[in-house]
Amino acid sequence: MGRMGADPASQSTVLVIDDALESVDVLRGILDGLYRVKAAIHSREGLDLARCSPPDLILLDVMMPGMDGYSVCQELKRDERTRAVPVIFITTLSDVVSEARGLELGAVDYITKPFAPELVRARVRTHVALYHQTVQLDRLVRARTEELVQTRLEIIRRLGRAAEYRDNETGLHVVRMSHYAHLVAKAYGLGEGEAELCLNAAPMHDIGKIGTPDSILLKPGELTAAEWRIMQRHTVDGAEIIGDHPSELLRAARQVALHHHERWDGTGYPHRLRGEQIPVLARIVALADVLDALLSVRPYKGPWEVARAVSHIEQERDRHFEARVVDAFREVLPDCLEIREAYRER
Ligand SMILES: [Fe+2]
Ligand SMILES: [Fe+2]
Repeated sequence: MGRMGADPASQSTVLVIDDALESVDVLRGILDGLYRVKAAIHSREGLDLARCSPPDLILLDVMMPGMDGYSVCQELKRDERTRAVPVIFITTLSDVVSEARGLELGAVDYITKPFAPELVRARVRTHVALYHQTVQLDRLVRARTEELVQTRLEIIRRLGRAAEYRDNETGLHVVRMSHYAHLVAKAYGLGEGEAELCLNAAPMHDIGKIGTPDSILLKPGELTAAEWRIMQRHTVDGAEIIGDHPSELLRAARQVALHHHERWDGTGYPHRLRGEQIPVLARIVALADVLDALLSVRPYKGPWEVARAVSHIEQERDRHFEARVVDAFREVLPDCLEIREAYRER
């Protein structure tokens, strides 16, 4: 990486914050040629410099007029942009207590005045190298984690789509209804994390239909009682397929698959759960799923007008759906219609 090389572009930057001009000059003399040295003689100015272009290391004087080194260090550690930048405190020989305090505040080391050039260089070199290693590792971990997250989401979406292929060739139903569910979840008052969980778990709600025979799934007429029982099994089968892996997402997906046909009044399936016994994500997905079914073509029906679908959902308040979910839905109806437009069947 040639950090110590002659190429100035590859040089690391050291920021010196010290009110004593002669200290700044001495440190410059010690570090020049090895690092790009920036300096500030006021603590505020030093903070601003650190924030607008974070250096690779900060040499920070403890005793400064106005804001002292401790407060500057605290500010640096509070700020996302400068948190990771190593801070080395500059103290005087007599100052023993302050060193401990500096380390407590998150400084990585200290150097004492008067400066021993070799020691200063060695400490700066070590901590700059450590810092670069940490940054590198962080970046790697973040990239790998992101890749894992994306892969997992993609697999889940594809699985949901696989099930949907059987009775809806484009798979757009799962895309639309999961976005509806996301919108409703947010309006319902779930946090962004849970709403996102809802968005990502919803596509798997009908995964159990992989196990439903075509003769039932694609039957144009009414189902017999026996066929209906088999049809209902897609909830339990879905939960079985998803399994009980402890990951948050798969647990949510399992709940949604198992309970998306439960009804608020306790007349749904498979477990006839009622009210708050039904997991909240399943209550939300239930409405999102029905909404999209009402607005879409099915073998047995054409697409309903929006007003008719809304009034149907309204009539199911406290029956099929929780009132609060219906309210949340009413709030985001315009956004749902935009989603519907964006993912319309062609
Ligand atoms: Fe279903
Ligand atoms: Fe569905």
